[in-house]
Amino acid sequence: MSDIVNAAKEKFEVILTEQLARVEEMKKSANFTDYASLDVIKVGVCFGDGIGEIISKHAETVLRHVLKDLVDAGKIEFKHIDGLTIENRAAKNAAIPEDVLAELKECHVILKGPTTTPQKGDEWPNIESANVAMRRYLDLFANVRPVKIPQLGIDWTFFRENTEGAYVLGSRGVDVGDDISIDFKVITEQGAERICRMAFDYAKNNGYDRVTVVTKSNVVKTTDGRFSQVAHRVAKDYPGINLDEWYIDIMTAKLLDEARRSDFKVMVMPNLYGDILTDEAAQIQGGVGTAGSANIGKKWAMFEAIHGSAPRMVTEGRAQFADPCSMIKASAMLCRHIGYPEQGEKIEMALELCGQFEKKMKITGRDTGVTGEEYTQYVLGWVDNPDLKSTWEAEVDKVKGA
Ligand code: IPM
Ligand code: MG
Repeated sequence: MSDIVNAAKEKFEVILTEQLARVEEMKKSANFTDYASLDVIKVGVCFGDGIGEIISKHAETVLRHVLKDLVDAGKIEFKHIDGLTIENRAAKNAAIPEDVLAELKECHVILKGPTTTPQKGDEWPNIESANVAMRRYLDLFANVRPVKIPQLGIDWTFFRENTEGAYVLGSRGVDVGDDISIDFKVITEQGAERICRMAFDYAKNNGYDRVTVVTKSNVVKTTDGRFSQVAHRVAKDYPGINLDEWYIDIMTAKLLDEARRSDFKVMVMPNLYGDILTDEAAQIQGGVGTAGSANIGKKWAMFEAIHGSAPRMVTEGRAQFADPCSMIKASAMLCRHIGYPEQGEKIEMALELCGQFEKKMKITGRDTGVTGEEYTQYVLGWVDNPDLKSTWEAEVDKVKGA
């Protein structure tokens, strides 16, 4: 009996020691990369696997298209990074093989396709998710996920904490003897503070007067309790911005409440709640295939779809019908992040015109809709259209007037 308890205690001790070291790292203040000061901005592209390979190629086409002049002028450089496939990760038995990680670190920003995450009992070794590992290795602490539906007055930006919560120790749980399994969830003062501050700064810089923190602090008292307390403390530094707290269960209901949902604007939450809530939000926008995300750290940033690699679509022979909009949206966020908001805006307006206003083509994930390739050409057609902005503005005005 005491042997199994001691073995579990030892594992817990390792985790505590690592987390204490992490806190010390976070205490050292560092500045965010200043892209304007770089001679060349290096953009890494990893395709991932499953539908990832296909939809990332489409997104890269759009991204290269809008950044062409900057690439020609030598201001931006693209670099392909192979080796993030499940086959290679399984062969190396690593969430991110070392040589791949070294290549990622040489880039300033990364456009990353979905990667397959092994699950207990499937054909792959049960290695950690490449996403979760990349977020941790590059300290990409803020997962920013916008969802916008002008017709419904919905303008949501989710700030999902990305380096803590139930996620980051999700591969570090312990089986204690034959009958007990225990997982760990960690929230730190510094980790909660940096994501809450980013959400408040975003609200302040974009004219929002409300931030909503989402927890389950009435039940999960210690970790969520800390997250909630930190949010309230940070709020004091932002006069004029109100903080309200909602529990994750009622929050999932409120996103469906037509009378109330458009009141929410900026939301901040621990990792797992952000994972769940953003899939729900994206579904309201048109499906998870329509939503992109920015994973932002001080030194690096990575842009990706909010969903996984959909191996089922591949085995059912439907991969070419996968929606590339999630990755195209991610590439728009990348443009904005590195200091090219006009290029980002063009992509976003084209995506909205195609997906929410004009709707000349439909992606259904199967042969009842168009292929990702066809849809990408549709989006590119709008990106290049000189009437893009005026058409988009007219559509938005129509919605506002309605
Ligand atoms: C997401 C995805 C990933 C996650 C998966 C694919 C590992 O669901 O980015 O939300 O759970 O974080
Ligand atoms: Mg998710």
